[in-house]
Amino acid sequence: MVNVGIIGFGTVGTGTARILIENGDVIEEKTGIRLNLLGIVDRDIERDRGIDIPHGVLTREVSDVLDNPDIDVVVELIGGIQPAKDFILRALNNGKHVVTANKALLATEGGEIFETAARNSVSVGFEAAVAGGIPIIKVLKEGLVANKVLSIYGIINGTSNFILTKMTESGMDFSDALSEAQVLGYAEANPALDIEGVDTAHKLAIMASLSFGIPLSYDKIHIEGITTLTPQDIEFAGELGYKIKLLAIAKSVNGEVELRVHPTMIPESYLISKVDGVLNAVYVVGDAVGETLYYGRGAGDMPTGSAVVSDIVDIARDGTVSSGMEYIGKRRDLKVKAMGDIESMYYFRFTALDRPGVLSRISGILGDYNISIAAVIQKGRQVGAAVPLVVLTHRARERDVRAALQEIDRLDVVADRTAFIRVEGEEAP
Ligand code: HSE
Repeated sequence: MVNVGIIGFGTVGTGTARILIENGDVIEEKTGIRLNLLGIVDRDIERDRGIDIPHGVLTREVSDVLDNPDIDVVVELIGGIQPAKDFILRALNNGKHVVTANKALLATEGGEIFETAARNSVSVGFEAAVAGGIPIIKVLKEGLVANKVLSIYGIINGTSNFILTKMTESGMDFSDALSEAQVLGYAEANPALDIEGVDTAHKLAIMASLSFGIPLSYDKIHIEGITTLTPQDIEFAGELGYKIKLLAIAKSVNGEVELRVHPTMIPESYLISKVDGVLNAVYVVGDAVGETLYYGRGAGDMPTGSAVVSDIVDIARDGTVSSGMEYIGKRRDLKVKAMGDIESMYYFRFTALDRPGVLSRISGILGDYNISIAAVIQKGRQVGAAVPLVVLTHRARERDVRAALQEIDRLDVVADRTAFIRVEGEEAP
């Protein structure tokens, strides 16, 4: 029997408690282990969560869990940096294993947490921290351990994916789609983390560290969110055969790694383009296995609870579970590529006057910076007025792209700041 205490009785805490109580028999049949929920700490222990909690389990006192010698595994589900960090460190120093869904904390302060766990010979499970119910941590730590990971592409923020899907399918505006995601319980307490790409970057830092054996490198990730995307760009991308997704990208390129989060155009024919709504997907390419794809629910009470309980079972089975982060101090410090040095294809939307010679001035500057055009479409006709002029490029260097756009935006025939989106997929011949 393994005794479990949960801190935080919100969405994921409720899902976790429900699984422990309602699926306890199934888990015991499969593993021979009885998981016993001994304590749940929350400020609010009155609200009905629709589960039968045994008498004496609910408490407002965090020490009832953290300092209870009978509890083997502490599950931290309050999120955020503090007091979550102090609670986790106290549990580890008390010799308890910890399971957490706290990607923000692990991505930014994971070093101290994993070192404390190693010092106390206990484990930190964090399957629920990345992509909710998809067992991607297990995939990276175990299933693909034989591979050099070449690249990872993830749709790992359900809120952003939900918003982009709504904007694409029903033309709903950004803020209405965000409100709907919040009502459904997908968004973080502070939704800025979702829509500005920060939550995605937290999860990417964890996956990249496990995949490439590098230290947690959240502060080196280039992060752009979805707040400035317009329905117009989503529509033009669609006409060109692309979907726009908020992607987490990690690539190993010539002994360096690229770590970036930004809206990305992906060919509609790619499987990952069809990942809509709150669903998440992670596409991992390994040198031995080739392409693999993992798909499922990345948020919500039961999917995330499923991941939490899988960590508890691992700990219960083996007495401990490798976090995969034990050797964090000895890791290879691969250089993270500066964003200016990355190469990509690009979509540009110029707002240019509809007048002879304008395209040649724009393409002349692109040429000066070594940016080769793959396709050009002028949207609409309004002689003398500004119209959208859409350009797709071949591979170009980001530093050149930024310099060229700065120069182009200063032209008297360009009426507004140029929008640009990076494009993945096969390069046009
Ligand atoms: N806010 C996150 C999301 C929840 O939208 O995916 C899971 O981390």
